Amino acid sequence: MKIIVTKTQQQFDSQAATLVARQLLEKPNAVLGFATGNTTLGMHRQLAEMTRALGLDWSQVHTVNLDEFLGAGHDHPLGVYWRMYDQLLGHTNIPAANVHVPDSDPMRAEETCRNFPALIRSLGYVDLQVLGIGTNAHIGMNDPGAPWEADMRITDISPSLVAAKAHLWGGADKMPKKGITMGMRLILQGRTQLLMARGADKAQAIRAALTGPVTPAVPASALQLHPNVIVLLDEAASALL
Ligand code: GLP
Repeated sequence: MKIIVTKTQQQFDSQAATLVARQLLEKPNAVLGFATGNTTLGMHRQLAEMTRALGLDWSQVHTVNLDEFLGAGHDHPLGVYWRMYDQLLGHTNIPAANVHVPDSDPMRAEETCRNFPALIRSLGYVDLQVLGIGTNAHIGMNDPGAPWEADMRITDISPSLVAAKAHLWGGADKMPKKGITMGMRLILQGRTQLLMARGADKAQAIRAALTGPVTPAVPASALQLHPNVIVLLDEAASALL
């Protein structure tokens, strides 16, 4: 496990964007795994800027996203699909057919739980998987206690995620009640994992994930089992290591 601690937001975003760009240059048909949230927003924008400045070619890249809110649809500005296009993919030449976000249609959720892992397998698995972490050490929408053996899961949106994000949706009652997420087993099949965390409210989760026992009570601790993990932190998130 390689831990990088950055001093400024600019360094944090550009280190992450550089790692993704390097993967794309090394393997033009790379499968890139992305995560939405405050943590990765700056990196997405930086990567969009690098794409413009360096002429990065996304024509053979496939992207997969960890999770989606059930019922969000493609055009909800808080849905994962819309945010990925807005922040990054709309600024690249990636073909729409190569963008894979779990289907947000609740009627097809069971089917998506079978099809999305099959799709990732057919692409040859994720080369570089970007991950954020929740204050409770969740990964994707895998909360403490979630079974690690699942490839894909339908989840209840947890009280901690509601507490963190309800204001964006205009109140807890307007937020979707369920989500769909890659499970820990499928996530860990990505060849390289890039875990990103910023801010003092993530410090406890980072300590538990990186130095505590490996247990489903701390979803991010599963990364201790992975042979190729890069952890990108700011000073506040690294303070308890
Ligand atoms: C959400 C997302 C995760 C994300 C995490 C952290 O639950 N499903 O993919 O990594 O929260 O979010 P943030 O970066 O906004 O703190």
